Formats: sequence, structure tokens, C-alpha cells
Amino acid sequence: MTPLAARASELDTPALLIDLDIMERNLGRVAGYAQEHGLRLRPHTKTHKIPALARRQLDLGAVGLTVAKVGEAEVMLDAAPPDLLVAYPTIGARKLERLMQVARKTQVTVALDSLTAAQQLSDASRSHQIEIGVLTEVDVGLGRVGVAPGRDLLDLIEAVERLPNLRWEGIAFYPGQIKKLDGEGERELEKLAHVIEAMLQDLGRAGFKARIVSGGSTPTLFHSHRLEGVTEIRPGTYIFNDCNTVLSGAADWQDCAASILVTVVSTAKKGQMIVDGGSKTFSSDRPTAGEEVSFGRVVEAPEAVFTKMNEEHGFIALGEPRKNFEVGDRVRIIPNHICVAMNLHECVYGIRGDVVEQVWRVEGRGKLQ
Ligand SMILES: Cc1ncc(COP(=O)(O)O)c(C=O)c1O
Repeated sequence: MTPLAARASELDTPALLIDLDIMERNLGRVAGYAQEHGLRLRPHTKTHKIPALARRQLDLGAVGLTVAKVGEAEVMLDAAPPDLLVAYPTIGARKLERLMQVARKTQVTVALDSLTAAQQLSDASRSHQIEIGVLTEVDVGLGRVGVAPGRDLLDLIEAVERLPNLRWEGIAFYPGQIKKLDGEGERELEKLAHVIEAMLQDLGRAGFKARIVSGGSTPTLFHSHRLEGVTEIRPGTYIFNDCNTVLSGAADWQDCAASILVTVVSTAKKGQMIVDGGSKTFSSDRPTAGEEVSFGRVVEAPEAVFTKMNEEHGFIALGEPRKNFEVGDRVRIIPNHICVAMNLHECVYGIRGDVVEQVWRVEGRGKLQ
């Protein structure tokens, strides 16, 4: 690991910096919003991947944590969560065996959308004499995972109810199709509200009462209270925010806590600078909204466009009015998608002003299984 430097300005680059004042404001704002609207907050830890930050979320009132992979669940046990939701289909005996070990240490809930997943989970929990909570996943428009609301959903719930050692708790959905709360996003949100309302009525008629209705992404975050029947939200990105969150309208540039400090390594080509971070440092995620393709925002030169990346080279086209950078200068760049950028860094630096207060290992990086 990079040795701790007391000053951000002395850190070697590339280095992922977390502005602690901004991060703490983001955490407080969302904890306050959830409390104000009586929504349970179960943050997705895929963004930070750091148990110490998950612990902060729990200390601020989060009811539990969300992960995608079992490996992330294992890491997040260090945050001592009262409850862990695995919001990803967990398939295969090896993973389920590891999940049962996690479930010996804390309450586990799994979101699933198939009879196969439910059957495998039931078999594993029965052999370990553990009861596992289940959220049946519903597709509300993203077309990724989730059964269609209606007959498919009712069939899946009935199957889960019949399987031993499973406890049906309710519904999970992810409104990832809503990227920006503009006119079209607003219409999508209204459509989503109707889908949820109709689905809960269907469940009621069939005699099912969902104790948990879990949804929520960062772009839709502050509109969650408009979705009647939702009890729980699972935003992840809100802790840091990124270019895509700003494009979604859910945050401003001053709410972006994470940036990557890079060094200018070449200015040989006129009107361009090369920095020492490319796709290995930032990830190749493109903006999810807007016309312009830039791989990040240069804090010191917002008019510049991060046009292209090789593994270790970031190509920055300097806009007008052109600011001149010299080889050796350092700039901070806000990435498009911070969750994937976190996965690329061994450790990150929590700073206040120029003081490095914290160095966190990204314990949950690379946990693909
Ligand atoms: C299932 C699920 N829940 C919650 C989230 C968190 O959403 P966001 O990254 O917008 O905060 C994600 C993000 O990909 C997700 O896949």
C-alpha cells in the first residue's frame, strides 16, 4: 500500500480522494430524507466497498446493508450489519454454501426471480437449518432481472411460500431505467408509481402482504416518497456522487465527494494534455445522459473534455479559454461512474482540505464471486 502522506498534495498519483466534508454531508442528507419520509434505508455498498463506511451508514440510521455478490457480503460482515440483503441472483452450491456461513453471523435476505434460485436457496438453508428471508424481484422497466408483475410474480411468491426454510418478506425492484428526472424521467416515475400500486393491489387480492417493498436508486432517490407502497430504498452512489449523478439531476458538482488526483505527464501535442490515469484508473464508463462523451470532469478546468483513454493514458482536450498545464501539474478528475472506479483502487484517501485524515483499503474490490 502507498505509505500515508500527511498532505493530499504530497500523495503519489493516481490517487482516489474522498472529500470527507462532502461525503458526510451526502450521508447526512440522505439519512435525513429517509427519516423524514419513514423510509428504511438499506444502502448498496457496491459504491464504496469499504466496511468502515458501511458502519457510518448504519450509525446514521440505515437498517441494514445491500450487496450484490456473496464475496461482498463476507467483507461487509466487518461492519456488523444487523441485516444484509443480497440483491443479486445467487446461483450455485459453492456460493450458497458461503452465504450460509454469512447467515450464521447475521440476518440474510436474498432477492431472486426464479424457481431455480428459490429451490437452491431452500436446499442450502435446509441443510444448514437456517431460515433465509426472500424478496421476489420484479422487473419494473429495466428489463434486466425480475419477473413481470402479475401472474408470474404471484406464481413465484406461492413457490417461495411453499419451500422450506424460506420466509417471503416482500418485493425488490430496481428502477435503473430512470437515468434523469427530466420530462421523460418524470413520466417514467409516474408509470413506475402505477406499476407498484397495481402490483400491490394484485398481491392484496391474492392474500399476500409484502412487509418490505424495496427499490430506490440514486437518480430517483429524492422522489422515493412519491412511490406509494415503497418501504425501503437502496441507493449506493449517493455517498460520493459522480458525473452521472450530476447528469441525472440528483446532485450538483459540489456534492461530488470523490475525485481522482492525476499528474500531467505530457503536453507534447498542442491543445491536449495526457494524465497518468486511463481505463485502469477511471473505468471506461461513458456518461449515461447528455450528448457529450467525456470520461470525467476536470475540477481545475471544467471546460476541458476527457476524450479518450488507453490503459494508463488519459487524453484531455483543453477547451477555450485554454488553461495551460505543465508536465508535473496535478489535477483532480471526477469519474463518470464512481462504483467501478472504486473497484480499481487498492486504497482511497479521505481528505479534509489538504490533510489526509484516513486511508481506507477498498476491502470489497474484486469480489466478483
Ligand atoms: C439492485 C440494485 N440496487 C440498488 C442499486 C444502487 O443504485 P445507485 O447506484 O443508483 O445508487 C443498484 C445499482 O446498480 C442495483 O443494481
